[in-house]
Amino acid sequence: MEEIRVEQSQSLKPKPQGDQLEFGRVFTDHMFIMDYTMGKGWHDPRIVPYQPLVLDPAAIVFHYGQTVFEGLKAYETPDGKVRMFRPEKNMQRLNRSNDRLCIPAIDEELALTAVKKLISIDKEWVPNAEGTSLYIRPFVISIEPYLGVAPSKRYQFIVILSPVGAYYKEGINPVKIAVENEYVRAVAGGTGEAKTAGNYASSLKAQELVSGQGYAQVLWLDGVKKKYIEEVGSMNVFFKINGEIVTPELNGSILEGVTRNSVIHLLKYWDYPVTERRISMEEIFQAYKDGQLEEAFGSGTAAVISPIGELSWGEAKLVINNGETGQISKKLYDTLTNIQTGKTDDPFNWTVEVE
Ligand code: COI
Repeated sequence: MEEIRVEQSQSLKPKPQGDQLEFGRVFTDHMFIMDYTMGKGWHDPRIVPYQPLVLDPAAIVFHYGQTVFEGLKAYETPDGKVRMFRPEKNMQRLNRSNDRLCIPAIDEELALTAVKKLISIDKEWVPNAEGTSLYIRPFVISIEPYLGVAPSKRYQFIVILSPVGAYYKEGINPVKIAVENEYVRAVAGGTGEAKTAGNYASSLKAQELVSGQGYAQVLWLDGVKKKYIEEVGSMNVFFKINGEIVTPELNGSILEGVTRNSVIHLLKYWDYPVTERRISMEEIFQAYKDGQLEEAFGSGTAAVISPIGELSWGEAKLVINNGETGQISKKLYDTLTNIQTGKTDDPFNWTVEVE
């Protein structure tokens, strides 16, 4: 493995107060960069002071969006150490996204080593106030200056770090979500499964239309029939119907969330009935009318577990669990965050120490 060289920053920035942290607004003192050139492969892994990038205006990323990203978190544990949550899963997904976008694969072990090294250099930035963490954003950009539509011959893999608070202003309190009936996010065969910028760019319009009405995000329906539930803007989604917990199956257009996977794992471990299957919005509405829609929540790295207190679908407003946090949402949130922050045992060996 190529050695990661380090250039220390000469002017360290002031660190924000833990209780004032928002999501993704401040960044640490250093960043990781590695270059790719066709014929030479990935090379020159380095940690340098956090700084702007200088790119050619014709760089492919600006025009055709050949780019992927990841999101994962590190936490300070009671023994003063720093641990990441299931980072290998993010690196695997990064390479699945890379493959979909014709970006050359990255050595996952090197990427993990780089993230660990970067965090240990910026360790002082890991916040420890309740509900805070260090968000890790690895991403790849295509930097070849070329206006033809073709895979780039040059890339940069970059990792930046951001101490964060809750993703939603509601925190762990229930959010309101609007079911989107007009716009769609992805279709099977498209890029919905990949973590790529275009999926998020195309979500903005729908999000903007509902945010003025008090909705935190939209719930996407399938791109063909606009009938089956897919996911929320930055989360996978779960419903509890008459005792059974259901979540949309991975169908090629849904993001395979690491938190989604962890939630399913925990629910099975607790012997709750949990099923991955196709779920129509009709079915959710019928369950609601029958008094059987007991809970709804989203799962994601940024959002952790976010209870859904209200779902609007056209004229209908479904108030779920009286707009309050449900029992399972709370249990999942507490268990996940306790494992992540090292406050309880980690029975599945999900956390990885940053040495
Ligand atoms: C995450 O949960 O880490 C995500 O990537 C969602 C994001 C777009 C904020």
